[in-house]
Amino acid sequence: MPDKKQEILDDLIQFIETERELYGDFSTVRETDSKITQNDSSQHPSEEHEAKPLTLDEKLNACSNLDELRELCAAADELKTDLENTNLVFGVGNPNADLMLIGEAPGEQEDIQGEPFVGPAGKLLNKILKAIDFEREDVYIANILKHRPPGNRNPNEHERTRSLPYLMRQIELVDPKLILCLGKVAGLTLLNKDSTLSSIRGRFHEFKGIELTVTYHPAALLRNQNWKRPIWEDVQMVRKRYDELGGKP
Ligand code: URA
Repeated sequence: MPDKKQEILDDLIQFIETERELYGDFSTVRETDSKITQNDSSQHPSEEHEAKPLTLDEKLNACSNLDELRELCAAADELKTDLENTNLVFGVGNPNADLMLIGEAPGEQEDIQGEPFVGPAGKLLNKILKAIDFEREDVYIANILKHRPPGNRNPNEHERTRSLPYLMRQIELVDPKLILCLGKVAGLTLLNKDSTLSSIRGRFHEFKGIELTVTYHPAALLRNQNWKRPIWEDVQMVRKRYDELGGKP
């Protein structure tokens, strides 16, 4: 090797030796450096990595089945009314039902048992369903509100507005072919109308790609037998359409 090259090589070795003496072995330095970097990043998390809270829509869309949606509802204070210590009344029935029934709000028995339509109106509803060849387990039953209002009053506008997104996701997840609203409150809320029940019953309305109709609430029939005939006509119309649409037998 020519002298000049040997000189450069010697200088280089000398330089490396000096560096090693001063700063330690290179591998140690690199390890320490990387530890500093890691520690630094954990001590100063950059803002862009901070999780933003999910919006209600994002939380609802993240629910891929009714059980997940039930859990979300159970944690949602906004679904509660001003009656304290009520239970969640989420919904019941076949999660793949082709017919979904929607009432207005849980009453006393529903609150106690955590299930819609189990009180006197519910018993009558079971008979109405049987009369058109459905068992309660064949259909899916829910309400506009998921908690009982005080004194069984009608759900107010704020309660309906807060509860609606949850019910909409529930409808999407069940994905029925037909919806039957029980009573004026349920029908007018979903159709977003201010009108009379008699003007919207007896026909199907388009609702988010689903056919929806409305009949009198079974509790109304308990009070007044005059509603028997129109309810009978309405549910027969539902059964006929259900069969035409190829609803599950
Ligand atoms: N009335 C309703 O509208 N829903 C129930 O669950 C019970 C009674």
